[in-house]
Amino acid sequence: MALITWNAADYGTNVTFADNEHKILFDKLNKLYDLATGGAERGIIGAQLDDLISYVVEHFAHEEQEMAAKNYAGLVVHKGEHDKLIAVCADLQTKFHNSEVEVTEAAGQMVKGWLDYHIPTFDTAYADALNS
Ligand SMILES: [Fe+2]
Ligand SMILES: [Fe+2]
Repeated sequence: MALITWNAADYGTNVTFADNEHKILFDKLNKLYDLATGGAERGIIGAQLDDLISYVVEHFAHEEQEMAAKNYAGLVVHKGEHDKLIAVCADLQTKFHNSEVEVTEAAGQMVKGWLDYHIPTFDTAYADALNS
């Protein structure tokens, strides 16, 4: 079963590029979660982990660019939230590739929990500024 399913009520931001990128991000996270909890080969899990993390980095950079373009006052705090997740992801990525940790159910739930909080709290808040 999918870990996270995009729907407008829970995750809609009213910003088209953000909603589109969140849907892609959710798909990549679901794919990783299914591989990791389904006992896929380690190399396949690692490739999907790398793909997800590079997409997360790309998506965050895109949001930050758009916020900067509108001189959005919440940019610094918002970017701080992004940077914290990137640090956690980079640590997991390094440890996974060093065979020190596996991608676990709990890791998937942690990222889902982060998105469940971040999108309605931080991403939704930039809608008026980005649509102005
Ligand atoms: Fe986002
Ligand atoms: Fe964000």
